[in-house]
Amino acid sequence: MYKLPENWLSELKAKNNIVDVVSSYVKLNKTGSNYFANCPFHKEKTPSFCVNEDGQFYYCFSCHVSGDVIGFVKEYENLTFMEAVKKLALRVGMTLPSLTSDDKYAEIKKEKDTLYSLMVECARHYHNNLLTDKRASSAREYLQNRGVGLPLIKRFGLGFSVDSSEIVSFLESKGFSLEQGVKAGVLEFKNGKYSDALSERIIFPVLDILGQVVAFGGRVMGKTKFAKYKNTKETSIFSKSNNLYGINLVKKLKQTESVTSLIIVEGYMDVIALHKAGIQNVVASMGTALTSEQIRLMKRFTSNIFISYDGDSAGQNATLRGLRLLKEENADVKVLSLPEGLDPDDVIKKSGKEGYLKLIDEALPFTEFIIKNIAMKFNTDTPDGKAKFANAALEELSKLSSYSEKEVYLPLVQKISGISFDVLRRQLYDGEFVIKDINYNDNLSRDNEKAFEKAIKFILYCALTNKKFYDKSSDISSFINNDAYLEIYTLIEQFSSEGNINPSKIAEATAFKDVLEDILSNGGQGVSEENEKNYYFDCLKLVKENDDKKTIQNLFKMYNGEIDAERKKQILKEIQKLTNPSSGRRND
Ligand code: UTP
Ligand code: MN
Repeated sequence: MYKLPENWLSELKAKNNIVDVVSSYVKLNKTGSNYFANCPFHKEKTPSFCVNEDGQFYYCFSCHVSGDVIGFVKEYENLTFMEAVKKLALRVGMTLPSLTSDDKYAEIKKEKDTLYSLMVECARHYHNNLLTDKRASSAREYLQNRGVGLPLIKRFGLGFSVDSSEIVSFLESKGFSLEQGVKAGVLEFKNGKYSDALSERIIFPVLDILGQVVAFGGRVMGKTKFAKYKNTKETSIFSKSNNLYGINLVKKLKQTESVTSLIIVEGYMDVIALHKAGIQNVVASMGTALTSEQIRLMKRFTSNIFISYDGDSAGQNATLRGLRLLKEENADVKVLSLPEGLDPDDVIKKSGKEGYLKLIDEALPFTEFIIKNIAMKFNTDTPDGKAKFANAALEELSKLSSYSEKEVYLPLVQKISGISFDVLRRQLYDGEFVIKDINYNDNLSRDNEKAFEKAIKFILYCALTNKKFYDKSSDISSFINNDAYLEIYTLIEQFSSEGNINPSKIAEATAFKDVLEDILSNGGQGVSEENEKNYYFDCLKLVKENDDKKTIQNLFKMYNGEIDAERKKQILKEIQKLTNPSSGRRND
């Protein structure tokens, strides 16, 4: 009734030969019984990345990454385990076994699939309009004037809606119902008539991390008193706050170079302008305040994030809100200071790529930005202003969890306020509990096996209780050694793509209800609320720390040196066990 059945997974892997799948991403050269390539997971000049067809695993002799075909797709494409499985299933035309007995679930999935194909058909149609339709000549001219030429139009799949009715007949000609058009947000139904929701607008398709078209942004040409952009309404496949414009292109970028930082901007045009300037590690929040979902999407690539919002008050306020969240999500954040009234698109136009890169160079770390922002709110030339500034700044510093970080920024507060370090420190540290009520590190190390289980349990507990800090992108499925926990984890992954996790839904689907209950009632025991977040990240670390890498390396050496075919087979089996993320390998 529940998780991906073992035999279904075996079939999936049998149909997706690792050599074929990996070759679709990197060029492999056959040497003996192995295939070699430059490792896609680290920079190198001589190939040490090896794919073994008999064993259906990959291994890098240099950076020691390893895994099976699912693991490869997951790592290469920055997907979760379930997303990678879906992608491979699609590749060979297998359908995911339904995870619940619930027929409704299958129905919802089917409807979503229809919307995805409807959206991509419309995107293609709008794009063709822009490229070839006579009625799009003013749109082409508008884009040309803004410096957006054919290569960018193609890269972003920009399009044009020529009038309010054309897309209606197009959808009908493709066999979609107009209700489906409304459900996808492409059509509006008003006064008994269906019409294009983005009529006579330039179309910016929004693609999700899987490359599926989920929405459109539509811009009117020329000036308007009303909102210049209109976006597809929230639908069953699109939520503005869960998506980032340009994330699909960041994924593409990652295939040719390593993405060591990401810039987040507000607008569609900012992303396009930065691309034009040759800066491709950029996404847009589409004008909304940053959400945890969006931050986690970025963190699949890097936790080095530059925030580059418009240099106006709205932009700055959005910055502050976004910053706090980023910090809470443990990202390493820097803030660009854009000149008042300019957005990244303007900056590039005014001072080119160099001008923008200079702003990146000068970007301030989160805390420094906040302190300087606070200073601007008070008149720090007066004694009263100085005191008020110091109070507000110290309050900000007290939120930092690291003492070193607090100390590092103290001189800045001192400099602006002129108050002595002594007094500032006393106020900052006064009333802080230095000894926390639970020493979790000690608890974790006391008994390895127990600690391991406890950590897994706590992680599951955090997922099931929808803790804000729970990191969906951190996949631990390969480390779980127990069937019950693995089943519950898989269900969590499955359901969490739909928003909040509802434990009762999981209870319905799992055969291990008692274990689920135990996690819910005892999983969080002994951890006080203020320690939960730190404890959670320690648990993640503990779970992931393992010496598998070393073991695989040694086994691989043995494998290559072994002549006896029977022994070779045995060693291969061992390696497979370790590189296969879906087998319960710690059971033995
Ligand atoms: P901006 O007004 O800064 O847009 O809004 P922009 O991308 O710089 O556009 P141009 O240069 O004027 O053409 C930032 C983002 O906020 C969303 C859009 O996603 C936009 O890109 N937005 C803005 C809306 O959804 N509706 C609006 O009316 C305005
Ligand atoms: Mn803007």
